[in-house]
Amino acid sequence: METKVVSVDNFMDNERNYKQAVDILKSGGVVAFPTETVYGLGALATDELAVQKIFEAKGRPSDNPLIVHIGNKEQVFNYATDISADAEKLMDMFWPGPLTLVFHKIPGVIAPNVTPGVETVGVRMPDHPVALGLLRALGEPLAAPSANRSGKPSPTEAAHVHKDLDGLIPLILDGGQTGVGVESTVLDMTTIPPTILRPGGTTQEMIESIVGPVNSETKSPGEQAPRSPGMKYLHYAPEAPLYVINYDVDKIYAAIDKLHAEGKKVALIGPDELGVSGADWYFAIGVAGNNEAMATNLYGALRKCDLTEADLILAVETDLAGVGAAVMNRLMKAAEGKHFMN
Ligand code: TXA
Ligand code: MG
Repeated sequence: METKVVSVDNFMDNERNYKQAVDILKSGGVVAFPTETVYGLGALATDELAVQKIFEAKGRPSDNPLIVHIGNKEQVFNYATDISADAEKLMDMFWPGPLTLVFHKIPGVIAPNVTPGVETVGVRMPDHPVALGLLRALGEPLAAPSANRSGKPSPTEAAHVHKDLDGLIPLILDGGQTGVGVESTVLDMTTIPPTILRPGGTTQEMIESIVGPVNSETKSPGEQAPRSPGMKYLHYAPEAPLYVINYDVDKIYAAIDKLHAEGKKVALIGPDELGVSGADWYFAIGVAGNNEAMATNLYGALRKCDLTEADLILAVETDLAGVGAAVMNRLMKAAEGKHFMN
C-alpha cells in the first residue's frame, strides 16, 4: 500500500484534503491525523472491520481499548451513560482539550473491538483545527490511538508517523508539529472520586480545581493490575536502553565517564541549561522547570536517539508539577523503571 502524505498546515485547500480522508474513512479505511497532543490513527468507531485495521497497522495488543474522538460535546451522550454533573463541568472547562473521560458505555453503539473486555468507553474532543475539521466533515466519531507502532514513542510530527507506518496506511494528514506533545489525561469518571488512569496534558491540579481531590493510580501504584489496560505494556521505548538520572551535574558527568570507560556511547536528554559537554549526543528539551516545553519535545528527542549510535540513553528527571507528572510517567515507562546508579 502506498502511503500518501498531504499537508493541511496552510489552510488553503483543506476541504479537498478532508474529503479525501472522509472518503477513506467512510469506506472502512484508516487515516492518520494531528491532534493537539500527538498524531492519532483514526477509523470509524462504529465499524469493527475498520477498527481492526488500526490494531493491525500498529501491531497493538487487541485487549487495549481505544479512545473515541468526537467533534462536538453533545455527541458524548450517544456513546456514554451515567454522566455526572462533575463530568459535565469538566467537559465545559476542558473540552476541546487533552482530557479523555471514561464513562459506562451505551451497549451496542461503538464497535466491540474499540472497548475490548471493558464496560466503559473513553471519550475526548481534541483541540486541533485539523482533528476537529476532519471530525466535523465526517460527522461521526473516530476511534484513534496514537499513530505509532505499538511500543514506540507517540508521533508528534507527520514524519514520525511516516517512519512507523509507511506502507501500512493509505493517508497521513500533515498538520505540522503537535503542541502539547504528550497524550491526553485519562480520567475514570466511574469511580468516586474520579481516578487518573494516565497523567497527560490536562494536569491533576487543573482537574482538582474544578471537581476537588481525585485519585491517581499513577502516583501511588498499588499491587492490583492497572485499570487502564494500555499502561501494562512496554511503551515509548527508543531502541537503546534508557535510564532516568537525577538533575545533578556531578552525577551526570560521573555517569558519562563510567559509561565511556566501559566503551559505551551515550545520548543524553535533558534541560537546555545543563550543557554537559561529555555526552556523545545531547538533546535539549526545554528550560529546566518548564515542564510544558519538555512535554512538547520529549517524544521527538526519544526518536532522535534512534538516529544515533548510542548504546545507552540517560534522561534527566524533572519535577512532577503540572504536566511534569506526565513527562515523568512516560520517561519511567520508556526506562522500564530504571534509574541510573553510579
Ligand atoms: O492524546 C491522546 O489521548 C491520543 C490522541 C491520538 O488522542 N490518543 C492516545 O490513544 O494516546 P492510545 O490508544 O495510544 O492510548 C489510550 C489509553 C490507553 O492507555 C488505554 O488503555 C486507555 O487510554 N483507555 C482507553 N479507553 C479506556 C477505557 N474504557 N478504560 C480504561 N482505559 C482506557
Ligand atoms: Mg499510544
